[in-house]
Amino acid sequence: MDVRDYPLGEFEAILADLEAANRLTFAAPPTLAFLRRLTKGWPEGAELRVADLGYGEGAMLRRIHRWAVARGLRPKLTGIDMNPRCRALAEAHTPAAMGIEWHEGDLFGWEPAVRPHAVISSLFAHHLETAEVVRLLRWQEGMATDGWFVNDLHRHWFAWGGFRAMAWAMRWHPCVRHDGALSVRRGFRAGEWRAMLEAAGVRGAELRWHPLFRLCVGRLKAGA
Ligand SMILES: C[S@@+](CC[C@H](N)C(=O)[O-])C[C@H]1O[C@@H](n2cnc3c(N)ncnc32)[C@H](O)[C@@H]1O
Repeated sequence: MDVRDYPLGEFEAILADLEAANRLTFAAPPTLAFLRRLTKGWPEGAELRVADLGYGEGAMLRRIHRWAVARGLRPKLTGIDMNPRCRALAEAHTPAAMGIEWHEGDLFGWEPAVRPHAVISSLFAHHLETAEVVRLLRWQEGMATDGWFVNDLHRHWFAWGGFRAMAWAMRWHPCVRHDGALSVRRGFRAGEWRAMLEAAGVRGAELRWHPLFRLCVGRLKAGA
């Protein structure tokens, strides 16, 4: 999806269908549950800095903003995506009052003035080759002061068939139908995550399965 040159209107429709798929498959709850654990015991009014890698049209950061405000925190959120159209769409869909910074560029080149408490991503890791995922794990381990969370897909035949059936029934854009099923095939199994964590030299990460077919990896840094 990030490599094809769709006209802007069609690209927007594709990302809207992707977001509908995210809502129907409960994409946000695992990430919000992680942030709830990360901020446990934080006082009212504390600043929460979160960076979202590969934000697409930005729905996850908007959800996080609403949750953080309801939780009494002061969210300071940054999205990093290398597709300039994502920035344009995220800006258009986000109330300016949220103050979310939509950064355009490759994540590995992002150098914030102040490090985020948490680095998160969703449906992003499976776009990378194995060696790049290992690099990502090391990078976010060094970048996040308090923890990181990768929300991605469990590679499973039922998820693949189920997504194809749902996408057909919902009449989603052909690109979402095709790339969504491909994304499931590019997803991960638990053993693969363990091997990549080992290769990255990252210890203390937790692997959890969440409905529907999300296999998430996260780490809360000790003492954070
Ligand atoms: C499938 S989209 C995921 C969108 C959103 N996070 C979601 O859950 O729907 C993956 C995004 O990652 C971005 N991306 C891929 N490689 C990247 C990189 N190296 N640095 C920054 N963004 C990248 C793409 O532009 C694309 O918007």
